[in-house]
Amino acid sequence: MPITIVNHPLVQHKLGLLREADISTYKFRTLTHELARLLAYEATRDFELEPVTIDGWCGDINVQRIKGKKVTVVPILRAGLGMLDGVLDLVPSAKISVVGLYRNEETLEPVPYFDKFVDSLDERIALIIDPMLATGGSMIATIDLLKRKGCQSIKAIVMVAAPEGVKAVSDAHPDVEIVTAALDSHLNEHGYIIPGLGDAGDKIFGTK
Ligand code: URA
Repeated sequence: MPITIVNHPLVQHKLGLLREADISTYKFRTLTHELARLLAYEATRDFELEPVTIDGWCGDINVQRIKGKKVTVVPILRAGLGMLDGVLDLVPSAKISVVGLYRNEETLEPVPYFDKFVDSLDERIALIIDPMLATGGSMIATIDLLKRKGCQSIKAIVMVAAPEGVKAVSDAHPDVEIVTAALDSHLNEHGYIIPGLGDAGDKIFGTK
């Protein structure tokens, strides 16, 4: 399934700034916000419109409105929170569902430790946000949870993706589009994306 790599100059410029080794927490957080907004713009490109007639300044006029479908934004804790406000800048009325996962150190599988979903997921478009798509384990588990709750329309918005993660998500959920600023080279032996951004959660929150 589709992976959309957003090549817009602003996206690529901001991604390049994010890759600087000595970037401050403030700058990383600000750029994450800005990049999330631009990626959300692309991810919502195929939202359906419907014509409506409104009372304009010179009489009735036909305009376009986004059709019925409601949106839930789904940050994966904790790094996904760094992208939340950027997405909400564009879809301010979206409801927010949250998923937290930890890794079982024996099986290495992601295990949900927290989830809180909004209602009517069967009527919503879910925009999952997580800065880094590495192995794909957390993304697949989040999509599994959403589908189990009836959600039928899901997109994943990430800043940087690894080919391993894209393949895993596409194999498990071929209907889910991945929107990203970059498809990087590979994962290293610690599961970090190369060249990637380092630990995006630590850089957003200022932890080490
Ligand atoms: N999570 C991160 O924050 N960075 C990576 O490179 C991979 C997973």
